[in-house]
Amino acid sequence: MRKQIAAANWKMNLTLQQGEQLLDDIISQPHSLKENQQVVFAIPAPYLAMAQQKLRNKEQVFVAAQNCHSKKSGAYTGEISVDMLSSLGVHYVVLGHSERREYFNESNAFLAEKVNICLENNITPIFCCGEPLAVREAGTQNEYVALQLKESLYHLTADQLRKVVIAYEPIWAIGTGKTASSAQAQEMHAFIRGNIAAAYNAETANAISILYGGSVKAANAVELFSQPDVDGGLVGGASLVADEFVAIINALQ
Ligand code: 13P
Repeated sequence: MRKQIAAANWKMNLTLQQGEQLLDDIISQPHSLKENQQVVFAIPAPYLAMAQQKLRNKEQVFVAAQNCHSKKSGAYTGEISVDMLSSLGVHYVVLGHSERREYFNESNAFLAEKVNICLENNITPIFCCGEPLAVREAGTQNEYVALQLKESLYHLTADQLRKVVIAYEPIWAIGTGKTASSAQAQEMHAFIRGNIAAAYNAETANAISILYGGSVKAANAVELFSQPDVDGGLVGGASLVADEFVAIINALQ
């Protein structure tokens, strides 16, 4: 059975004290996770150690970095290596978020290198893909997302690819309050799964968790997560509000 994940992406928000308080408020509230369900917190790098310490005894709850560098170590001032993340016990890293693609010029080829170094070091990439509004309006979103997958992931073996979590985040739905409809999300998730099946095989495609991101909130999470190919969500704004995010966790099917 593939994993279902409620993942918070705090982006560049909150102070250390606010972050600690938010984690406390979320983990103190009742939530029941089935065996195949996980909660992931992608939090700012300076707070990774705090979060790792706070969540260390929580089963099925993991910390993610929001980025890492493609090189093992060296003269890359300001960057974060996978060895640093591993030494903290971090399990996941978000890669290829549209904000990093747009503001930091991260290309599909560069992301392929980051995916490689994560997998070589047993860190699970949460690989983000998704089209801008103009592409959606032109109706070429499938081709756009297929190219992102091909250029960043399809050099992997099937065994490696199975270790990747994919997050489909249409850019027009991020932070806009304009969620993709559950039908639009399901359609793209089914397309992604079919694309993986064609490039690899159905077994591999069925093993991969595909999360939806873009204005997920408590009010729409149940409907989105009930779609057969939607395996949870990557949540920005609503993950900064404890009650909202707890409701989103509890919306996992
Ligand atoms: P919002 O939930 O704020 O739209 O952000 C989505 C996102 O980018 C998660 O990575």
